[in-house]
Amino acid sequence: MSAEKTTIRPLRIALFGFGTVGSSVARILTEMKPEGLELTHVFNRNVARKKVDWVGADVVWSENADEVLNSGADVIVELMGGLDPAGGWIERALASGKSVVTANKKLIAYRGLELEKLAAEKGGHIKYGAAVAGGIPVIPGLEQGLAGDKVDRIEGILNGTCNFILSEMEQGAPFEPTLKEAQARGYAEADPTEDVGGFDARAKLAILMRLAMRVHVNPDEIEPRPITAVTPIDFSYARDLGCTIRQISRAERVGGHIAASVGPTLVPLASPIAWSREMMNMVLVSGHYGGDVIFSGHGAGGTPTAVAVVSDLIALAHGSRRVEIPSEKAAIGTESEIAHYIRFRVKDRPGIVADIAGALAKEKINIHAIVQKPGYSGEDLPFVVTVEPCKSSALKRALDAIKKNNYLIDDPLDMQILSA
Ligand SMILES: NC(=O)c1ccc[n+]([C@@H]2O[C@H](COP(=O)([O-])OP(=O)(O)OC[C@H]3O[C@@H](n4cnc5c(N)ncnc54)[C@H](OP(=O)(O)O)[C@@H]3O)[C@@H](O)[C@H]2O)c1
Repeated sequence: MSAEKTTIRPLRIALFGFGTVGSSVARILTEMKPEGLELTHVFNRNVARKKVDWVGADVVWSENADEVLNSGADVIVELMGGLDPAGGWIERALASGKSVVTANKKLIAYRGLELEKLAAEKGGHIKYGAAVAGGIPVIPGLEQGLAGDKVDRIEGILNGTCNFILSEMEQGAPFEPTLKEAQARGYAEADPTEDVGGFDARAKLAILMRLAMRVHVNPDEIEPRPITAVTPIDFSYARDLGCTIRQISRAERVGGHIAASVGPTLVPLASPIAWSREMMNMVLVSGHYGGDVIFSGHGAGGTPTAVAVVSDLIALAHGSRRVEIPSEKAAIGTESEIAHYIRFRVKDRPGIVADIAGALAKEKINIHAIVQKPGYSGEDLPFVVTVEPCKSSALKRALDAIKKNNYLIDDPLDMQILSA
């Protein structure tokens, strides 16, 4: 019998979007030439201005989405972003039996479940390893490495832009110029609301909650708190308390529900999360059986994100499919028991501390410390009260009562304090 060599046809890849990540994916595919992958199409609007000479001469450049969707490409790699038209094109690709790889966290957070069902029905796959924490393999880590554990808590830094701003503020820089610098470096959009408002991080948290905690979460159920209220004074007080400040996304099983939050948070300097600087992301996953696991690295940027995309493509070429993770609807709330930092700005007068202490005592909340730095004018006096772990609903009632007083210059800034 003659020995026959079977040649497996490479997966034909069509890139949708030739921007920061798309061009980096093309670069890796062209330079590394991973076995079993062949770049055949690049789709982008006004594609002529995108053409580069380092991509193979056989690659078809197109600005006609229909033409590429109807081509012989096996996998659509969507790197345009946004819900539309990306969502419609992904749906069409999956409906025709093609597979999809995407880095689009917003789309996966809102429509991931539905698109996964469609992929399974039509015999294709949808992979999105780059959608959370860019180049850090958190998603494959949860889908495979930690599939054997029951995750009780996820917390960490999911937005590099906020991390850049807050780690610069930690060194003494004020918010506005740091945001401008982040924009000048291309880390933040012209409209930074998605990042600084916490919307980007909550979409990523919703994806991680589904993969790690097996619950369906509509990102809108998580109310993010913006980092814009954090001032250099808060960093100074945080330092006195042995902490720094980071935008933390957090989900934890508490009794019958899952408490989920995104917002500026005090992080003890002893915690590895406090070590993350600039655009780094870090995710701590606490498993019931395996204990804590930390993922850390470059959470964004063209090439780190492209590595995650190409890794998904290689997994597809090797026949790997997404592990089917059962998930169910869960009650998502904000009620948790955690320590808090509350910074007040007041027009000074006698009795303010007694008034605040009284409102907290009425809700059975124990004060841990009262910190007031010298040198501030009585016309605008910042001071901080930290409270021991308490129910967030009780603290909200106490703060609502305190807010009625006319000695406050603005609303108190309330931040959770992570345990070390
Ligand atoms: N950049 C990162 O660090 C990073 C990290 C993790 C995940 N992601 C995700 O990766 C995806 C791509 O991000 P990116 O930073 O590469 O974005 P980008 O630089 O803005 O690139 C997007 C590309 O898609 C094209 N495009 C957008 N809408 C289109 C449309 N309707 N029709 C045709 N072409 C269209 C854009 O063309 P124009 O040039 O004409 O605008 C551009 O070339 C997003 O989902 C993002 O959330 C990015």
